[in-house]
Amino acid sequence: MSPEARPPKAQVVVFASQKGGSGKTTVSAHVAVEAEQCGAGPVAIIDTDPQGSMAKWWNAREAHEPAFAHVSVPDLAHDIDALSDAGYKLIIIDTPPAVTSMISEVVTHADLVIVPTRPSPHDLRAVGPTVDIVQNQNKPLIFVVNSATARARITGETAIALSQHGTVAPVTMHHRVDFAASMIDGRTVGEANPSGRSAGEVTQLWAYLDERLMRLRGDTSALIDHPSKTFEESILSPVPQALSNLQRAGKQAAEAAIAHSETPQEPPAQPSESAHRFGDVSGDWDGVERRVEDRGPPPGRPERRQLARQPFGRRLNASG
Ligand SMILES: Nc1ncnc2c1ncn2[C@@H]1O[C@H](COP(=O)(O)OP(=O)(O)OP(=O)(O)O)[C@@H](O)[C@H]1O
Ligand SMILES: [Mg+2]
Repeated sequence: MSPEARPPKAQVVVFASQKGGSGKTTVSAHVAVEAEQCGAGPVAIIDTDPQGSMAKWWNAREAHEPAFAHVSVPDLAHDIDALSDAGYKLIIIDTPPAVTSMISEVVTHADLVIVPTRPSPHDLRAVGPTVDIVQNQNKPLIFVVNSATARARITGETAIALSQHGTVAPVTMHHRVDFAASMIDGRTVGEANPSGRSAGEVTQLWAYLDERLMRLRGDTSALIDHPSKTFEESILSPVPQALSNLQRAGKQAAEAAIAHSETPQEPPAQPSESAHRFGDVSGDWDGVERRVEDRGPPPGRPERRQLARQPFGRRLNASG
């Protein structure tokens, strides 16, 4: 094919992280399907992990999109060109949990590297070598905080720690069982429950990545078609979601109060066991694990904690 007749080269997004189980396969599969559904395709998936988790997920799928490309790493350059020539616009590559020359080679083909990271000290300690590979090759990198526990302080702390090493996506993927459950039969959370909160997070994440990819390919016309987002939407994108959750919670509480005042009194519905376990005593558990708020000592037990007389500095001895 003559160079003039060639379609533009597909953009390549590599998901990499030395840490096993950080969500490379889960997040990459979700991003691939969301991109395809949002018209950024055709999308091709490549699984370079010998465990073949992505391939197994794709084989369980009924839908044919995104396409799955059988590619070996030594042929990657040639096959990315072949996929581009065949009209594929986006190539998503899943990699094994390792820091090897193979990962380094895959990263050489990336237009963007995404590093999913769980908010845990082990995951944070493990990001260094992956970041080194990406930075040595001057590739753009985005961290995605995945499998976060809602309202846990460590989620924010993780984002701050990661931001010392690169860009952190302003969308956090929370720990919800549907991320794992939907993938059993080859689907995604959006395909299993399009109106669910997990699906909303995937949509927000892709919207963010889509804009990043447009900027990376210098597609100014596409950026003009995408009206510029407000500061809150683009920088603090979880906020509108949080606000709408709060508004919905407020509306539900108001409706419940009106219904309560108008109907004969009944004992309140018991929250589910899982709602109790995760501290969401409203009973409307959204599948996200939350820290149980501090409710003081168990009933009948004295409060043994005492406010420090001297909040900072050396602890006073018993007589002091
Ligand atoms: N946001 C989430 N909520 C709930 N479960 C999740 C989430 N993200 C990933 N998981 C689950 O965590 C496990 C590990 O995820 P995944 O296989 O995507 O990680 P990985 O980085 O690809 O792992 P590996 O390094 O072994 O390839 C899977 O069982 C997956 O279903
Ligand atoms: Mg994997």
